[in-house]
Amino acid sequence: SKQHNQSHSLHIIEQRKGERAMAAQAETIEVPSDAELLQAQADLWRHSLYYLTSMALRCAVEHEIPTAIHRLGGLASLPDLMTALSLPSVKMPFLGRVMRVLVNSGVFATDNDSESGVELYRLTPLSRVLVHGVVADEHHSQKYFVLGVTSPHYTEAALGLADWFKKDTEPPVQSPFEEKFGVPLFDEKTALLDEELDAVVNKGLAAHDNLGIATILRECGDIFKGLESLTDCCGGDGTTARALVKAYPHIKCTVLDLPKVIDKAPTDGVINYVAGDLFHTVPPSQAVMLKV
Ligand SMILES: C[S@@+](CC[C@H](N)C(=O)[O-])C[C@H]1O[C@@H](n2cnc3c(N)ncnc32)[C@H](O)[C@@H]1O
Repeated sequence: SKQHNQSHSLHIIEQRKGERAMAAQAETIEVPSDAELLQAQADLWRHSLYYLTSMALRCAVEHEIPTAIHRLGGLASLPDLMTALSLPSVKMPFLGRVMRVLVNSGVFATDNDSESGVELYRLTPLSRVLVHGVVADEHHSQKYFVLGVTSPHYTEAALGLADWFKKDTEPPVQSPFEEKFGVPLFDEKTALLDEELDAVVNKGLAAHDNLGIATILRECGDIFKGLESLTDCCGGDGTTARALVKAYPHIKCTVLDLPKVIDKAPTDGVINYVAGDLFHTVPPSQAVMLKV
């Protein structure tokens, strides 16, 4: 009908008006205020260069700077560090810059020597967990965690993120790491990809796993009270289970993990180790623990 045609034409006119408005909008852009622009520029630099903070942390861990500060009595000047690390003196200003980045990000802190006024670096809780080679209760060096997650394989996979999004694949969707290297993250097959990476990642995971068990036992110990047996599913080398048995000696603890992990587990008689796959069978107990 005539009325229907008129309303259809009106609709098309309105639609075109909308399209023209959108096109005009796409060709203009709201300009931030001067203060916003300055802040945006500073934030842009910060976000674009964040990876240098990770790499400075990796550098500090590779040179064992936290361990050096610890061995120097907990306080070290830049020249102290240069000597302790046996670095060429020409690199001193550059080590100073790396340390400044790490102080700004909370990895280290600084004090000024009361007499000379010289800047001294000291450890923070974060760098204390990076001190390596110290055997002490509740101390688990996180050196290998840092080396694993900042490794060339991990960073290369992250660099491929934009390309990974473009690829249309059938579910289940593989992670960027698996798509690039053909093995999933934290998988047994990592050793086939790179034995060194596998060793670093396994040590890093064990360090991460063992960091908080004492805190869990202190803060949430009640959940284990009254238990007589427990299976720590994916319990790794049994460090968690051993801490549990130390706190609650009457609990019979079983650790289930993959054969390659159990084969290297200590045979101390405290823990019952079972090699297997949690998706097939879990050794029976009063409780099963799944801790990540
Ligand atoms: C994140 S780590 C261990 C976490 C540990 N439960 C902790 O927090 O102390 C993962 C563990 O799961 C183990 N794992 C992976 N797949 C498994 C499977 N299918 N069956 C049993 N263990 C497995 C790995 O060998 C590794 O030791």
